[in-house]
Amino acid sequence: MANIFIGGAWPYANGSLHLGRLASILPGDILARYHRATGDEVLYVSGSDCHGTPVAVQAAKEGVSPGEFAGRYHDEFVECFSRLSFTYDLYTRTDQPGHHRVVQELFLRLLDQGYLYTRSTLQCYCEQDQRFLPDRYVEGICPHCGQPARGDQCDYCSALLDPADLLERVCKICGTSPVLRPTEHYYLALSKLQDELAAYADAGIGWRENAVRLTKRYLQEGLQDRAATRDLDWGVDVPVGSFSGKKIYVWIEAVSGYLSASRQWARQTGGSWEDFWLESSGDSTSGRDIRAYYVHGKDNVPFHSLIWPAILMGSGGLHLPDRLFACEYMTLEGQKFSTSRNWAVWVPDILSRYQPDSLRYFLIANGPEKRDTDFSWREFIHSHNSELLGAFGNFVNRTLAFINKAFDGRVPQGEADPLWSDTINESYLKAGTLIEAGRFKDALEGIFATVRQANKTFDEQKPWATLRENPAACSNTLYNSVQIIANLANLLNPFVPFSCGKIRTFLALGQPCWHSISVTAGQTIQNLTLLFERIDLKQIEEETERLQAQITGAG
Ligand code: MF3
Ligand code: ZN
Repeated sequence: MANIFIGGAWPYANGSLHLGRLASILPGDILARYHRATGDEVLYVSGSDCHGTPVAVQAAKEGVSPGEFAGRYHDEFVECFSRLSFTYDLYTRTDQPGHHRVVQELFLRLLDQGYLYTRSTLQCYCEQDQRFLPDRYVEGICPHCGQPARGDQCDYCSALLDPADLLERVCKICGTSPVLRPTEHYYLALSKLQDELAAYADAGIGWRENAVRLTKRYLQEGLQDRAATRDLDWGVDVPVGSFSGKKIYVWIEAVSGYLSASRQWARQTGGSWEDFWLESSGDSTSGRDIRAYYVHGKDNVPFHSLIWPAILMGSGGLHLPDRLFACEYMTLEGQKFSTSRNWAVWVPDILSRYQPDSLRYFLIANGPEKRDTDFSWREFIHSHNSELLGAFGNFVNRTLAFINKAFDGRVPQGEADPLWSDTINESYLKAGTLIEAGRFKDALEGIFATVRQANKTFDEQKPWATLRENPAACSNTLYNSVQIIANLANLLNPFVPFSCGKIRTFLALGQPCWHSISVTAGQTIQNLTLLFERIDLKQIEEETERLQAQITGAG
């Protein structure tokens, strides 16, 4: 039994979740459900990323406090995750005293260990708004290509910029032109940890290829020290007197949420956060068997593969990330999701019309694991109708409805087919290995191959014909089909927990586990209903039109 820590990326509380975002964090729940079923101890945490300038600016525009503004989205996220049945052990938020305390502790430990130092730089200050401007709030002309650009990078020529480099700078908030003012900040000495981080990344087995590639590139270019504090008023205070009014850089602070959430969970439940973070237990007689997964989008790679490990190394003694599952992007009907144009399918919206399992299934079966993938209403509706309903739902229903009709609702006597027993045992092994390797799509596909094979066997054995000609053969077919269904309710539970829950009711099964189970003959089928309803193909057109109609603005 291992101690499995799973960190799901923390969504920004400055807008609703869209499907692309959801696709990048859903694999965390697959891991959590799978590892719990195997009997491992699991701690799965995440929360809303509530700080940062976008939240502060948007809140000011609406005349509410940043906490209230962020809270609105936090509540919406909680609702979405609960409707999708995410099994976080704790889903919290960063604007909480417990989080601030842990971040400040880590900061002071890094300072104490010599991984933070101060430096004075010139930064854009808006005299109108009386504030230093975050990078993205300075706009101007790119000095390299002459195109309009934002302060952190030029979208046209991809140059990485410092806002002070821009020509004809303007403040995005008020439109006046900012001045340059000296300001003092702490820097995280990533360069000091270069060798240690390189050795760590080299050993990075279990990382997805994209995480490995990107991280190697940063390391080869040589790590630059990064500002660890900012001139902001919404965030975690720098715990050093002379820095009052400054805040800890949102990225350094957000990733620390993995630890603060673990400690909050321990406080609230009496659990031991140490079991998931400290290599050896207090009496040091036994090393712990800890494995830490992190599940996030590609744009988060350096924060999880370098910054967070640097913070953990610098402060000492805490378990580093083992497996980084970073995903690529999901597009929508062939185009990039765009929040500003409202080119997006919003999670609350799709959940108001479709079953959560349909969404979970699609986002894994078509997950952007290794390359970009696309969500289209056509594919979504077809995947529900042909795979979930047509293959899985159909097999469950035809079997159990047959038993209801022909066997008075009792699982008939039969003998376990050794070929099927082998297939089932292998399925657990194969799917488990794939899930642990972050190959969720392959795992799901493998299980669905078994579902199709089961349907085929059912067709070939023709129980509707043998019912009269050879009742023993008929009973056998149904008996074995029930065994397959019971095991599918385990194998598919990480992916489509709602329908697996229904099967557990039909067959009176216990909690999901990760090994072969059997149902005894005579067991009665309870409360049989359809797992899935067919979605009318007319919906494809309706949904596509709705999407087109919701686009706002130009561009
Ligand atoms: N809020 C960030 C995003 O949505 C993710 C932060 S993950 C964290 O991209 F671990 F850093 F919090
Ligand atoms: Zn440029």
